[in-house]
Amino acid sequence: MRKILIRGGRVLDPASDRDETADVLIEDGKIRAVGPSLDATDAEVVEAKGCWVAPGFVDLHTHLREPGQEYKEDIGSGGRSAVAGGFTSVACMANTDPVNDDPAMTDFILDRAQQSSPARVYPVAAATKGLKGKVMTEMSALKAAGAVAFSDDGKTIMDAAVMRHVLEYSKLVECPVITHAEDRKLVANGVVNEGPVSTKLGLPANPSLAEDVMVVRDLMLAEMVGAHLHIAHVSSKGAVAAIRAARERGVCVTAEVTPHHLALTDEAALGYDTNTKVAPPLRSAADVLACRAGLVDGTIDAIATDHAPHAVHEKDLEFTLAPPGLLGFETAFSVVMDLVRRSELSPLELMRRMSTNPAKIIDRPGGSLAVGELADVVILDPELRWVYDPAKGYSKSQNSPWAGKEMHGRVVATIVGGVPVYDVEHGVL
Ligand code: DOR
Ligand code: ZN
Repeated sequence: MRKILIRGGRVLDPASDRDETADVLIEDGKIRAVGPSLDATDAEVVEAKGCWVAPGFVDLHTHLREPGQEYKEDIGSGGRSAVAGGFTSVACMANTDPVNDDPAMTDFILDRAQQSSPARVYPVAAATKGLKGKVMTEMSALKAAGAVAFSDDGKTIMDAAVMRHVLEYSKLVECPVITHAEDRKLVANGVVNEGPVSTKLGLPANPSLAEDVMVVRDLMLAEMVGAHLHIAHVSSKGAVAAIRAARERGVCVTAEVTPHHLALTDEAALGYDTNTKVAPPLRSAADVLACRAGLVDGTIDAIATDHAPHAVHEKDLEFTLAPPGLLGFETAFSVVMDLVRRSELSPLELMRRMSTNPAKIIDRPGGSLAVGELADVVILDPELRWVYDPAKGYSKSQNSPWAGKEMHGRVVATIVGGVPVYDVEHGVL
């Protein structure tokens, strides 16, 4: 097996609270040593001066589109895009075609990942059959097949009794339930956040209330049942407040926020760019501030991309008709670096939210550079400036609001299980 010495970087390991200049030695797929001036005999040396060296990012929320919509993405292209963005593990949502609501499908996804993805892939199985919100899936069989969590993401389980039962069974299999919390009746046909922007654009509005009420409902159900509820893509001030209060009274809740909900307001949609259409929608400046504050104070545990590829012909439509979603992997680090530049988060705390915390939520390895751990590592240049061109990226799709924009901070290398899978010079290896 390969022996790699990453030399002289700023080692950021949230699992051990380490933030210091050091070498990292990788051997046989594991972290062998971390410390100053390690012996490089027989090792390939990677110079990391001026760079950060951290555990690989773990993405709790991605859409890899295979099976069924391989024209948008497949497990191979999604996995390549993931490692180009520094993600060494990704959890993929069940809204494929067919839906991942059956152990054979979970098995298929893991098999395809083994064959084609440089990133580790963890399937999230559907909570209800066909994502219809009516009949529960067979959670223990799905868990045995490799599912790490349960979610009807893309849809909300509108029937509270069904959600209650899903939460109850999730306790038996010891897996989190991930909720896409938007009350569908309040969303109605809304496509942008309700407020001055929806009025200006003359587009149907989706109120933040739709998210607030469903987050509160799910928190109450989880509290009563005593199950682990994970709230996907938090975007509203009300949701952040409700999660904070629930945590304070001891509810077992974790939450994630996306780079786009941290960085963009609904004003990004003023030019009718359908690449800004996403579910839940981009919200007001006050909501963005609340999400950032929630991420900083620990109310929100993790940053997750909600990488949601859609083809050019699908996005090149009227705003009301285009599907929601945007590409996440390759821009995530650069976008969230803004939190470090504005001194809202330290580099170490940013890494905790991109790696250590999400790995813990799905109880998978990763998120640590401790000796003996899997060598899933990312090397980051916090200062590198570059222009993002999705056509040159690894996703099959191009739907990004950051296309053509100058980015600041870049992933320079990604290592999975001790094997280099990406570097900025050569691309995916
Ligand atoms: O914007 C979104 N796109 N939100 C979702 O919940 C689903 C996702 C998708 O599958 O495209
Ligand atoms: Zn969702």
